[in-house]
Amino acid sequence: MPDTQQSVSGINIKSSQNRLLIKNGRVVNEDGMEDADVYIEDGIIKQVGRNLIIPGGTRTIDATGKLVMPGGIDPHTHFELEMMGAKTADDFYKGTRAAVAGGTTTVIDFVLPQKGQSLIEAYNNWRQKADSKVCCDYGLHVGVTWWSPAVRREMAQLVAEHGINSFKMFMAYKDAWMLDDYELCHAMETCAELRALPQVHAENGNIIAHNTEKLLAAGITGPEGHQLSRNEEVEAEAVNRACVIANQVNAPLYIVHMMSKSAVEALRLARRRQRQPIFGETLAATVGTDGTHYRNACFRHAAAHVLSPPLRPDPTTPEAIVQALADDDLQLIGSDNCTFAEGDKARGRDNFAHIPNGVNGAEDRMAVLWQKAVNTGMMDPCRFVAVTSATAARVFNLWPRKGVIAAGSDADVVVWDPRLQRTISASNHHHAVDFNIFEGQNVSGSPQYVIVNGRVCLDDGNLRVVEGLGKFLPTRADSPAVYGAPAHAPAAPPAHTPHSPRSVTSAEHTNGTPTGGYEELHLNKQLESMSVSGSGCSTPTGRKMREPGQRDLQNSTFSISKEMEGADTKTSVRVRNPPGGKSSVLW
Ligand code: URP
Ligand code: ZN
Ligand code: ZN
Repeated sequence: MPDTQQSVSGINIKSSQNRLLIKNGRVVNEDGMEDADVYIEDGIIKQVGRNLIIPGGTRTIDATGKLVMPGGIDPHTHFELEMMGAKTADDFYKGTRAAVAGGTTTVIDFVLPQKGQSLIEAYNNWRQKADSKVCCDYGLHVGVTWWSPAVRREMAQLVAEHGINSFKMFMAYKDAWMLDDYELCHAMETCAELRALPQVHAENGNIIAHNTEKLLAAGITGPEGHQLSRNEEVEAEAVNRACVIANQVNAPLYIVHMMSKSAVEALRLARRRQRQPIFGETLAATVGTDGTHYRNACFRHAAAHVLSPPLRPDPTTPEAIVQALADDDLQLIGSDNCTFAEGDKARGRDNFAHIPNGVNGAEDRMAVLWQKAVNTGMMDPCRFVAVTSATAARVFNLWPRKGVIAAGSDADVVVWDPRLQRTISASNHHHAVDFNIFEGQNVSGSPQYVIVNGRVCLDDGNLRVVEGLGKFLPTRADSPAVYGAPAHAPAAPPAHTPHSPRSVTSAEHTNGTPTGGYEELHLNKQLESMSVSGSGCSTPTGRKMREPGQRDLQNSTFSISKEMEGADTKTSVRVRNPPGGKSSVLW
């Protein structure tokens, strides 16, 4: 694909391409599909419908037989990250260029301070790295990699003044970014007080450190040791512990990169018992490949698949994870794009613990999921939009600016050709590495046009990104998808006393019936939420719960070709799910 890089300065982007009509396509949103045209002006979607009145001189894209979807939102990237003594190959230019090529028009990257470093200083560094390079809009999460009262103050400042509404804590990477449980309590509680969203990397870092020592002592030094040092149980334990800690401090929770069936099961149980929403994110890597690669005899090949948590050797994992996404046991898919050059991966040639962790995924995330989920009939296009775009927009409070094709939204649009066939390969991808973990996979379904803020950046397959075209997206705290819609939200619990504990009165002590004491209150809430999830009704906060085991809409009958063939007779398909999809925590 030709790739034209242009500088924002020196060209008048607006006057050359400020009006665009996407005609004859099928518009897909999380809550339904309709045959409609989309008119864009000055970077904003102005009209969606049929028989639109359009000014002369407007460029028209014919989307007959194509799907017109909100641009993807990748909630998890690491561009220009220094980690384990190496720096990622994809910087903010090459990383966002690759993302756009694959249909993603917004990324959310992670500011990761060193232990002891000011969070604000790290945030400013990230803004400096990213602002002039990004080819699409981007937001930031900030890592809480150490704990002190100063960190707490800086978290408040980041929320109030710098557009941050999510913080990531690590339960792994002992002696680097890991927090202990006491620190996790503080960090999550602070998030809840700030109405920000705590995120966790869920793996038991102490067990990993112990296992690593034993494996190395036994002479297991190759990449297979990475997986052996941190099996599914090590992930599932941390998922459960993170949920328990969140529940103790009455915080919502977002678990990043969920990689195993055991971890998803722990999440599924926690989502049923807890009072605050929990979101689970998985990765393109998880659905698109598996942990058998760690046993490849070629070090380069095996090391290129090293990420944490690792890919699982159980070959049934990818399909189970797709099913979990379809069933709303998982809510989002990211890439965790964190690419390292071959030379950097080789740092761990004699010791798997020194292989920098990370894989590609920003470019192929959408096509890989389409292939594994939609082409197999496990997911319909609306759910695809939910998990690749709309839910991230809602959770990180970017909706409806992002994540939906609607008048007034940013013109971040993908014209998706469900029949476009290609073979994924490092030889033609846009990442800065010469390895692709999806190498050789044939996919049917890819973007034909990608429009970023109204500009056609993938133009009938030709990539024409603009370095610096993207903007930083400040994200406001108190996301309705996380903390409830303000109008219907229950009164906020007082800070630091989320369970409203009270002491047992002397009268209660005397007659031995501690009615309404802390434990009972807590138990009542648990029973309440159990009966709610069992009946499929609303939660105490008014959120819709999915029926246990309920399958995705049209999961067995949906067929892309049928949908597209019926396009001229059927103008609109409304799905059963409310805006926000079937998620139990979105409304
Ligand atoms: O292996 C991974 N996931 N690398 C990136 C850092 C992280 O833990 O997200
Ligand atoms: Zn992580
Ligand atoms: Zn990551």
